[in-house]
Amino acid sequence: MSDKKTGGLAGVIAGESAICTVGQGSGLNYRGYSIEDLAAHATFEEVAYLLQYGELPNLATLNTYKKKLIAARSLPEKLKTILENIPKTAHPMDVMRTGCSALGTLEPEDDFTTEQDRVIVRLLGIFPSILLYWHHFHNAGVRIDTHSEQDTIAGYFLEKLHNTSPREDQIRCMHVSLILYAEHEFNASTFAARICASTLSDTYSTITTGISVLRGPLHGGANEAAMKLIDSFANEEEATKGVYEMLEKKQLLMGFGHRVYGLGGDPRSPIIKSWSKKLGGDTATFRISETIEAIMKKEKPQLPTNADFFSASAYRFLNIPTDYFTPVFIMSRTTGWAAHVKEQRANNKLIRPSSEYNGPDNREYIALDKR
Ligand code: SDX
Repeated sequence: MSDKKTGGLAGVIAGESAICTVGQGSGLNYRGYSIEDLAAHATFEEVAYLLQYGELPNLATLNTYKKKLIAARSLPEKLKTILENIPKTAHPMDVMRTGCSALGTLEPEDDFTTEQDRVIVRLLGIFPSILLYWHHFHNAGVRIDTHSEQDTIAGYFLEKLHNTSPREDQIRCMHVSLILYAEHEFNASTFAARICASTLSDTYSTITTGISVLRGPLHGGANEAAMKLIDSFANEEEATKGVYEMLEKKQLLMGFGHRVYGLGGDPRSPIIKSWSKKLGGDTATFRISETIEAIMKKEKPQLPTNADFFSASAYRFLNIPTDYFTPVFIMSRTTGWAAHVKEQRANNKLIRPSSEYNGPDNREYIALDKR
């Protein structure tokens, strides 16, 4: 079937899944639970468990899961050495990709049918440690340890980043963001991870694939690019002038538009925007963000703010460095990638579509000395 008109497999149903509904009229749901309910009432660990195992945990199961995630924060000595040898100038997404791959060599997964859940928990637990060990070693010459009284990924990440106990509202905002970013059906990085799983590759390889794809500014990298856009304006007046100039030049405004969501908007955006407003609603950054949003609403209503636009200011108000925004996306989306990898493995068929050929007709070979 040719998709020349739209490209990028837009509108193509590329398989079945029981994990998430996106843009199907019933809202954004993870295994039947609405994102609004999960963001209002759940912790990220509950949602991670739901995605990994298919059901929300009860208290006892959740506590056991959290204990495993806490134990999974530890860094092998050889991985610390590798992180110390990754240059300070490296992109943090490359640090995460390398850390994931390196761990796969130090703690190999011999058989995913029996070890996939162990590896998934290990990666969820260690990803904040990987980023922040590298960060503090290269920025302060400090080798952090992974001990913390914080019993959630949200609290652990913020505490280890800032070396101070985060406020409850900051931790809650982090939980909400991690929940919102966790899963989103056949998005580019998730579908790539499924393709990797369909060849019977190992779990580290599927997650490394997801990281590599998420890195691009048209996908996960958009939250960092949106922050740079917002930061490029000193005030609302400059933002108004600048956005109209960008629209005039047909330039992309990062954090806007979505392959699936159109006029109805991205249901994640109002939720994270409300948290951005809670933490920094009286700042120029928030006012500039709202100015950009209002212009796009007026001039390009078919390009709503996606999950990334107000995630940018929310992360700024959590004092997360801009180029760590997409690594945080990994800490969350590893749960979605893992859910899809497990689902693909459970009923696998190698994913191998066909292309519509538009190259040269068959032709005779010409010897080198005749060309
Ligand atoms: C994520 O798929 C998912 O679910 C992804 C995600 C998830 O949770 O996994 O939701 C996370 O990746 C969200 C998207 C983050 N990316 C950005 O914010 C980057 C900016 N957005 C655009 O690059 C774009 O909107 C896409 C890539 C997100 C979607 O693009 P499509 O569906 O391929 O649409 P398109 O590029 O064909 O655009 C259609 C028209 C074009 O104009 P024309 O050529 O028809 O004149 O809309 C224009 C585009 O130029 N357009 C934009 C725009 N996005 C599309 N113009 C200005 N700014 C934008 N952001």
